[in-house]
Amino acid sequence: MGTGDGRSPHELKSTVVLDAAKRAARYIADSHARPVAPTAASVAALDRFSTTLSERGEDATGVVEQLDEIGSPATVVSTRGRYFGYVTGGTDPAAAGAAVLLTAWDQNVAIPAMSPVAAHLDDLAARWTCELLGLPATAVATFCAGASIANLTCLLAARDSLLHRLGWSVDRDGLAGAPRLRVVASAEIHVSVRKALRAAGFGTSQIEYVPVDTQGAVIASEVPELNDHTLVLLQAGNVNTGHSDPFREIIPSAQDRSAWVHVDGAFGLWAAASPLQRHRVDGVDLADSWATDAHKWLNVSYDCGIAIVRDEQHLRRSLAFDAAYVSTDSDRVLAHLGLQMSQRARGVEAWAVYAHLGRRGVADLVDRLCQRAQQMATLLGDAGIEVLVEPALNQVLVAFETDEATDAVITAVQRDGTCWVGGTNWHGRQAMRISVCDASTTATDISESAKAIIRQIQPDRAT
Ligand SMILES: Cc1ncc(COP(=O)(O)O)c(C=O)c1O
Repeated sequence: MGTGDGRSPHELKSTVVLDAAKRAARYIADSHARPVAPTAASVAALDRFSTTLSERGEDATGVVEQLDEIGSPATVVSTRGRYFGYVTGGTDPAAAGAAVLLTAWDQNVAIPAMSPVAAHLDDLAARWTCELLGLPATAVATFCAGASIANLTCLLAARDSLLHRLGWSVDRDGLAGAPRLRVVASAEIHVSVRKALRAAGFGTSQIEYVPVDTQGAVIASEVPELNDHTLVLLQAGNVNTGHSDPFREIIPSAQDRSAWVHVDGAFGLWAAASPLQRHRVDGVDLADSWATDAHKWLNVSYDCGIAIVRDEQHLRRSLAFDAAYVSTDSDRVLAHLGLQMSQRARGVEAWAVYAHLGRRGVADLVDRLCQRAQQMATLLGDAGIEVLVEPALNQVLVAFETDEATDAVITAVQRDGTCWVGGTNWHGRQAMRISVCDASTTATDISESAKAIIRQIQPDRAT
């Protein structure tokens, strides 16, 4: 079959991909010249995309050209080291390269027979994840769309396992009439966990919240009496402060009472990969399941989360299925271990980062971003800005004189374009949250960004 211009479909695809790769390379090379947030004019220019679906379509090269010329200027430049919003990771060079190749390969990693290479590298990346994070040798990790899905995956395994031990099969009898489970959760558990609870059939009346301290960590002495009907939800890395719950004080006694402990460690679990930061998540390896992201601190491109369960049988109980056409020629049929069947070979991008950085490189990445966060806190603190919580890991939380002033400074910084910071509310106060999650952030990026923040309140000082 031809394309109408004499080229075969493969020649056409090859040409389009080469053009796109050149444009992508230019986008990366020029990213320093762009404001971190797009200009109003660039956003307004999105109107140039036709709002009516064309009858006959356009040629593929033209589509990519449009995407680059209209679309690229309207991106938020989140991978040049100065985007500090929403715990957003940058992209490691090896991960970016792997993503390009993966697109060309277009592999489905649901079943090993569908892609031996993807299955092999996914398996390695999954094992290395557990090894780097110091998790038990029995644990099984599976890649998914993000920590939200990872939390849901783990909660399904937890729910079904608790009910199984109580003699109830969700597979056979569903949830109606099942023994009532309790959920004991940090008062500051991430919204994605609350969402996952709802999707897994838990109502808000089942949740007992445990108060947190001034840093956002659960107060261990406030954990209620637990039993074998209980799902305990803790976190490694409070989304505002970076502080973690006291795992070693809580998990052993929870397990003595046969409760299931799940940890949301979307970014904070990576502290375990650094000998210098590991103490911040001491005892996290004792849990039954963990959710984390590779697209945050590990700097794999979107969307790449990781669900990890101590014992594979619990994942299988919730998610494995029978289908005559799915061969079971391998232990690691991902379609049996996660919510998705067809799936992009996300593990290959994680493998690429591990292969690029090695064990020491991952630890260095963690340490470096912790240092940069500390640098930011020091610069802002020295300028008289209130640092609300002693920074932990890669999060910095500051506030200005009033809530209105804080909101105004955040807006002004975003408009300034040197860097991008977001807002949050911390224990009743509006706050600026600075999350240092991009591997490419340099000490100069931090000092220039700090100057940009300071000059919004002291125009004469920070030039
Ligand atoms: C602590 C925490 N948990 C879970 C999530 C959800 O992760 P995702 O956006 O990858 O689904 C986030 C996202 O910021 C987070 O910070």
